[in-house]
Amino acid sequence: MEPVAMVMEKAWSFGLVLLWFSTLSCYLVNAADDKNGGFGASFIFGDSLVDAGNNNYLPTLSRANIPPNGIDFKASGGNPTGRYTNGRTIGDIVGEELGVPNYAVPYLAPNSTGKAILYGVNYASGGGGIMNATGRIFVNRLGLDIQIDFFNNTRKQFDKLLGSSKAKDYISKRSIFSITIGANDFLNNYLLPVLSIGARISETPDGFIDDMINHLSNQLTRLYKLDARKFVIGNVGPIGCIPYQKTINQLNENECVDLANKLAMQYNGRLKELLTELNGKLKGAIFVHANVYDLVMELITNYAKYASEACCGNGGQYAGIIPCGPTSSMCKDRDKHVFWDPYHPSEAANLIIARQLLHGSTKYISPVNLEQLRNL
Ligand SMILES: *[C@@H]1O[C@H](CO)[C@@H](O)[C@H](O)[C@H]1NC(C)=O
Ligand SMILES: *[C@@H]1O[C@H](CO)[C@@H](O)[C@H](O)[C@H]1NC(C)=O
Ligand SMILES: *[C@@H]1O[C@H](CO)[C@@H](O)[C@H](O)[C@H]1NC(C)=O
Repeated sequence: MEPVAMVMEKAWSFGLVLLWFSTLSCYLVNAADDKNGGFGASFIFGDSLVDAGNNNYLPTLSRANIPPNGIDFKASGGNPTGRYTNGRTIGDIVGEELGVPNYAVPYLAPNSTGKAILYGVNYASGGGGIMNATGRIFVNRLGLDIQIDFFNNTRKQFDKLLGSSKAKDYISKRSIFSITIGANDFLNNYLLPVLSIGARISETPDGFIDDMINHLSNQLTRLYKLDARKFVIGNVGPIGCIPYQKTINQLNENECVDLANKLAMQYNGRLKELLTELNGKLKGAIFVHANVYDLVMELITNYAKYASEACCGNGGQYAGIIPCGPTSSMCKDRDKHVFWDPYHPSEAANLIIARQLLHGSTKYISPVNLEQLRNL
């Protein structure tokens, strides 16, 4: 009799533990439901365009947690957070408008654990690229391979938080994976003037872009294996038109660096083909293409008066040499400038871009826009 009673007792308490776990997961999932109409989480991968503070925790030369960065960021009261702009990034705005109650937390922040990750995690890192060698000039940064290794850790945490079947549902049906990367592979790798670091000496543009696309294809497939299904991938912007490039090449107001823009366009053509291929190949997944190149180019053309000069920076005709920091000069009309600093768009530009990605037509975002992607 004795052993049976013990087994019964064990089974009973095991059942209680299970019940407790499933109640907890229900509570967590419902908490997410209540606040954002069923949308779950935003997982953000990429470079400084969407870094929300990861580089603050790295020994790196690429940092934005110094004033006046963040001067218009309401959530921090105007203090720098590590975002490379004056306010919100495109990732912040998209998450907010899709109904996520918090900005996705930076993966490397020590308090990004437990329930804090439920609305999403941001893995993006200033200087990071598709290729591992990209951004070596900054000493440290997270490339996309490592960012996906980190998501693999997060994926396991979701199993613990929600239970494996709910976690799978949450990740595959109610989460969006955005990837904004590629510009550094050109700016801080292929085109780098320091020949011993740049890949240009040993590879043709075609060969380098082939490598990038093959690498990205593997990276997106890895995310798919970890249950990601709703993807949005940004193409590379007109990197030949950023204040840094215009300054070092001493261009006129209405000129851009031809080689840099040509490389971006060549990569962008291949990216579009890759996403079409993956849409056919990976069952149940949707890969949305975000045409950041055309969106930024139109901003530059339409805001001619404010398009060439960095709001915060120093050096040369377009304030494009020395990054934004406490000793930089800063423009007064921050909401009118396309570029915040020598490399990055202002919050005003990010807002225009984000709204097109959320609600715009297939000219900018295809086959569906982000609002439609959420509701799929
Ligand atoms: C984590 O800590 C940072 C810095 O102290 C704070 O701004 C942020 O709100 C915290 N995040 C969470 C999810 O608690
Ligand atoms: C790039 O770095 C990742 C993470 O450290 C590593 O797993 C991968 O093998 C590296 N890839 C190459 C081609 O070196
Ligand atoms: C995730 O991590 C596990 C080890 O914990 C490994 O076996 C698996 O291959 C990883 N998955 C991906 C897609 O990287």
